[in-house]
Amino acid sequence: MTDTAAQTAAPTPSKRVFSGIQPTGNLTLGNYLGAIRNWVTLQDNSECLYCVVDMHALTLFQEPAALKEATRQVAAALIACGIDAEKHILFNQSLNQDHAELAWYFNCVARMGWLNRMTQFKDKAGKNRENASTGLFVYPNLMAADILAYRATHVPVGEDQKQHLELARDIAIKFNNDWEKPDFFPVVEPLILGEATRVMSLRDGSAKMSKSDPSDMSRINLTDDTDMIAKKIRKAKTDPEDLPRDADGFEGRPEARNLVTIYAALGNESISDALRDVGGGQFGAFKQKLADRAIAHLSPITEEMNRLLEDRAEIDRLLFRGGERAKALSAPILAETREVLGLVHH
Ligand code: AMP
Ligand code: TRP
Repeated sequence: MTDTAAQTAAPTPSKRVFSGIQPTGNLTLGNYLGAIRNWVTLQDNSECLYCVVDMHALTLFQEPAALKEATRQVAAALIACGIDAEKHILFNQSLNQDHAELAWYFNCVARMGWLNRMTQFKDKAGKNRENASTGLFVYPNLMAADILAYRATHVPVGEDQKQHLELARDIAIKFNNDWEKPDFFPVVEPLILGEATRVMSLRDGSAKMSKSDPSDMSRINLTDDTDMIAKKIRKAKTDPEDLPRDADGFEGRPEARNLVTIYAALGNESISDALRDVGGGQFGAFKQKLADRAIAHLSPITEEMNRLLEDRAEIDRLLFRGGERAKALSAPILAETREVLGLVHH
């Protein structure tokens, strides 16, 4: 390829945001407070790409029909939460094959030792590592490709993705060094924002709230109705003490810390402000307040999501248009990448 204007990527804006979410079941309050809410805010001052990462989901077996349904559900949830698919770009990952191509190049950049250190792989592979898919092992390389296919600079995520983003930084740095192209890929900035960067299970304050937890009572789903939300909060694990008056009192009380953190995040206030209001009280009364806040916040989202899901064809069209727009941004970056690597192409 010759370096014609048409094949050279347009300069990337100084701040381009990318983030992804897996379509593997219902979105939780953890996804919402740790990630999606920040995605919505970032739309005001940045160019944003948000991606339903269906190819990442395949690292664990997915029933095909369930995967399609979950992709549409997550897309609907994102729109219901306030993602603007017209102003910004919303699509599912497999619509743009540039991610997979760049991930292959990154498989050849990332080192075994780097991936061996990934705690999420260890958690997800469990005891039976020999039987984990190789996709699960190289999952962070695909994640780096998702971001760098667009030369995105900022990535809003929850706390659990920090290590993966460090790997994306290492890949960008090694690529730029090995091929002697100092600024070819940006060194991405993680954006881990808000009070609730790690929302914990309602049943166990030491485990992350997760859509894959076998117990549905451990999480609040964005699809839960008001009765279900109230019930889950009523049954949430606590301890016998009253709520502490300041954050130091959370020491050794992970469930109390988690519930107050959720309460504060839903009310857009700091934990110390929340404790000024509920500190010293009993869990029973606090749980009622927490349920009221959660319901007031989540039920309009659930309603809008259900409305959007009445027209799945429209969701598919929207994702497809997003995919086309994403491809238009990544294609010239991939063309430059092939050239840098010495691949013969046109
Ligand atoms: P995932 O559901 O693993 O695809 O995660 C999508 C986004 O939600 C990522 O940015 C995660 O860091 C974030 N996230 C998932 N679970 C939680 C949680 N329990 N607390 C805070 N953020 C979370
Ligand atoms: N690995 C992320 C998670 O499980 C999802 C993800 C995939 C992602 N690609 C990404 C997040 C790129 C940020 C940027 O939560």
